[in-house]
Amino acid sequence: MIEARGITKTFGGRGGLLGTQPVAALRGVDFVLPSGGAVSFIGESGCGKTTLGRILCGMEQVDSGQLLVGGTDLARLPQRERAALLRRVQMVHQDPYSALNPTRTVRQVLEDPLALRARQLRRGRDWVESRAVELLGLVGLDPAYCLSLYPHTLSGGMRQRLVIARALTVDPDVLVADEAIAMIDVSLRLGILALLRQLRSELGVSVLFITHDVAAARYVGADGQLYVLYRGQVVEHGPVDAVISSPMHPYTQCLLSAIPVLRGLEEPAAEQLMPIAGLDAGHEPPGCLFADRCPNAEDDCALSRPTLRDAKEPGHRHACLHPRPRQVVAVPLAPDARPSGPP
Ligand SMILES: Nc1ncnc2c1ncn2[C@@H]1O[C@H](COP(=O)(O)OP(=O)(O)OP(=O)(O)O)[C@@H](O)[C@H]1O
Ligand SMILES: [Mg+2]
Repeated sequence: MIEARGITKTFGGRGGLLGTQPVAALRGVDFVLPSGGAVSFIGESGCGKTTLGRILCGMEQVDSGQLLVGGTDLARLPQRERAALLRRVQMVHQDPYSALNPTRTVRQVLEDPLALRARQLRRGRDWVESRAVELLGLVGLDPAYCLSLYPHTLSGGMRQRLVIARALTVDPDVLVADEAIAMIDVSLRLGILALLRQLRSELGVSVLFITHDVAAARYVGADGQLYVLYRGQVVEHGPVDAVISSPMHPYTQCLLSAIPVLRGLEEPAAEQLMPIAGLDAGHEPPGCLFADRCPNAEDDCALSRPTLRDAKEPGHRHACLHPRPRQVVAVPLAPDARPSGPP
């Protein structure tokens, strides 16, 4: 199990990369990723999703907050042990095209890291070869066809499967899938989502799923938690279905109302659409970060920043002073729009 407590991360600032304007990428994020479980993060571009994933993989340092793995605070571990634990968290990026070295064959892509693993496990060359074949089979690639190919000859979906196989060479406990289907042909996306689901059930791998796509988050982890990030702050979280069916925070409602696919074949009713105004990322309001764009904002929203509070369902929380429950998705199909059964 991984637990994040109050993770903050700010980039830039005085003399930093961005000159004098600091960017608060994460503002005290808490979450729990159970063993074999799934947690999904959604939110608009720049809200801090990748930064969170990179922190989890040890590719980025936190400014403050704690990361506990199996109850142990990573910061308290000696460097070597910390690195070993962080290696059990592997990232699958959105771009399977640049993630693979074009000069290495599929066999080399897998056997290079497997040779290191073999040394740790005191296994021989035979193990490396058979494990490469086994991993290809696990991710749905035919070893006889693929092993001698170069990545550029594979489709986007096959490349992403290979990237996942490579991540599995270290026997990870956690996969961080950062927009892992965003650059893949739509027709191949479901296959990758199904693979992530299969890895959860067959290997017990936990998945931190980062996406713009709520339906994909639900597919990979319907039994898990959905977190909504806005400008680095978790503004709502809870069981996936609770958040989707009864979103409480107006930002979540705006995000969900913008997804046509969840409406089935019906045209959305005017009151279900919640257009969202542009973001002024340079403005740092003292109160609610969403107040400037919020359709529900009242005077007190500008005064202090709301923290997470309980919604009606257990485990469902939101950070809004004036929530107005609205159903913005799950519009049933009209009876005459349902596909008819076989004659
Ligand atoms: N290395 C960095 N240096 C400076 N600023 C950064 C760095 N990495 C991220 N940021 C800033 O931190 C904020 C969060 O970035 P992040 O990449 O985590 O967002 P994201 O939610 O993954 O966005 P997207 O959906 O576009 O991938 C952004 O404002 C980004 O510009
Ligand atoms: Mg990102």
